[in-house]
Amino acid sequence: MILEVDNIYTAYGLSQVLFGVSLRVQEGEVISLLGRNGVGKTTTLRSIMGLTPPKSGSIRWRKEEIAGRPTYEISRLGIGFVPEDRRIFSDLTVWENLDVAIRPSGKKENVWTLGRIFALFPALEPLQKRKGGYLSGGEQQMLTIARTLMSNPDLLLLDEPSEGLAPLVVHQLGEQISKLRREGMTILLCEQNTRFSLDLSDRLYILEKGTVKYEGTVQDFRKDEKIGRAYLAI
Ligand SMILES: Nc1ncnc2c1ncn2[C@@H]1O[C@H](COP(=O)(O)OP(=O)(O)OP(=O)(O)O)[C@@H](O)[C@H]1O
Ligand SMILES: [Mg+2]
Repeated sequence: MILEVDNIYTAYGLSQVLFGVSLRVQEGEVISLLGRNGVGKTTTLRSIMGLTPPKSGSIRWRKEEIAGRPTYEISRLGIGFVPEDRRIFSDLTVWENLDVAIRPSGKKENVWTLGRIFALFPALEPLQKRKGGYLSGGEQQMLTIARTLMSNPDLLLLDEPSEGLAPLVVHQLGEQISKLRREGMTILLCEQNTRFSLDLSDRLYILEKGTVKYEGTVQDFRKDEKIGRAYLAI
């Protein structure tokens, strides 16, 4: 098990948001974390990253306790977070955005290079000299993911990557995430776009009001329409 989240309770000040969330991610898996607006998906990712540390419960990375550790340490251990709000530098070019994200990795195999980034996101290659602020939403999303990949993570946390993108762009992004999956990347994917997310995933968790209401394989979930209707906007 690469990541084990065990019974975490997370709050923003006095406002309690997660009530005992547990989930597991194995190496090479793509996991969907689904649920309607405001159920705690982003807060779960923020808890894992140490941005909003849980008040209680345990988060283990390769069996090592990481709950409460500072974010820079957690990201250095190999967890890459792609937040919802696409944090690229708008005054820097695409190339500069990628260059500042490079971080030496202890890894010898499968290291991310610009060549590998452009093989995954061919649309970025001709835009290397363009400033981040002049990119389309889809290009910004690719660049945000690419920046995180440059730090050579072992686990990628993706928060609503399809949000606000045109259907054709969402489709392309799905193919790119599929390719990452085939290359063996482990991914925890938060999405409101259930169909998009499930097509890419092995297993899923559904959150409601800060608790896990369903967990299972995508295959099993698809056999039971009632679950989707009860907890998701489908
Ligand atoms: N910084 C914050 N301060 C206080 N409350 C917050 C903060 N961020 C989120 N919340 C609240 O926590 C709850 C869960 O929010 P969270 O962002 O984790 O949900 P989500 O499932 O990611 O929703 P969405 O699908 O809209 O992204 C919501 O009620 C939200 O209003
Ligand atoms: Mg969210």
